[in-house]
Amino acid sequence: MTPGANHLAHDHRSDDAAGEFMADVLAGLAQPQPLIPPKYFYDDTGSRLFDRICELPEYYPTRTEMQILEQSAGDIGKRLGERIVLVEPGSGSSAKVSLLLKSLHHPVAYVPVEISGEHMLSSLTPLRQQFPNVEIIPVCADFTAGFTIPAVSAPVARRAIFFPGSTIGNFPPEDAAALLAQFRKLVGAGGAIVLGVDLHKDAGVLEAAYNDAAGVTAAFNRNLLTRMQQELGAVLDADGFGHRAVWNAPESRIEMHLVSRHRQSIEVGGSTFWFEADDFIITEFSYKYSQSGIDALAAEAGLRVGATWLDTHGWFSIQYLEA
Ligand code: AVJ
Repeated sequence: MTPGANHLAHDHRSDDAAGEFMADVLAGLAQPQPLIPPKYFYDDTGSRLFDRICELPEYYPTRTEMQILEQSAGDIGKRLGERIVLVEPGSGSSAKVSLLLKSLHHPVAYVPVEISGEHMLSSLTPLRQQFPNVEIIPVCADFTAGFTIPAVSAPVARRAIFFPGSTIGNFPPEDAAALLAQFRKLVGAGGAIVLGVDLHKDAGVLEAAYNDAAGVTAAFNRNLLTRMQQELGAVLDADGFGHRAVWNAPESRIEMHLVSRHRQSIEVGGSTFWFEADDFIITEFSYKYSQSGIDALAAEAGLRVGATWLDTHGWFSIQYLEA
């Protein structure tokens, strides 16, 4: 492999990615309450829209987590120690990791794992320039389907997973615990997980973050319908569905919906699904946690919380989890 080249030695994408998308859409739309898994937001268009969401004034998670990283990367780096391999599942455009890499003592390798291959590769060039001594080994995979950490040439003291952005919030708590347990096995004995978790807060702040005035989140949500048209040949009217995000207090989650504006159908894969006015498709859950909820989640995954860092509002947290 040419050092510094933006190519993909580790492409674990399924040969039948379109088949999986079709199967998940057909199964999801056939549910009494239709739903489509949020991982399908992230084609190249969706990944770019997500990067724009992160810059929105209403979307506090990115800013608050960056603030924590800016203030506490030194502490986090001390805990992680030297000669680590840092793996980032769902790395997107790898915008946060440089704050952490900067504070590490002789990091050996950085392994971004991302379904959107092109989007990931184009963002690695500046990182390679900034960290010429860190081996950067992109893996193209759906991290929820399991993946392996590639071998690195230099001696390694510890493996760590960096899972920022509260991506963990996309999973219902039981699935979140199972995912963390999978990460614990991946990093092995002595490994660690640096986890970004969004916290409970005022419902108005939460709902505004997912209903931005500029309509970027609405476009991100509706992009799912456009993808279905383009990739699955679905016959539907994307503009016939409105964007909605609501705080579900009993379940402790934000829900994103695509709400049918009138009676209409979606035809896909030989099936026809009818929607009355106000019927909706659930496209995302974004769970929010209390510290005691996070402690319980870690315990269920066979982990313990070794340290927690917060932003000045106490809106977002970074958790240091160890086996
Ligand atoms: C990437 C799952 C953390 O839940 O806040 C942002 C995705 N959806 N705006 C989140 C998202 C709508 C985001 N996560």
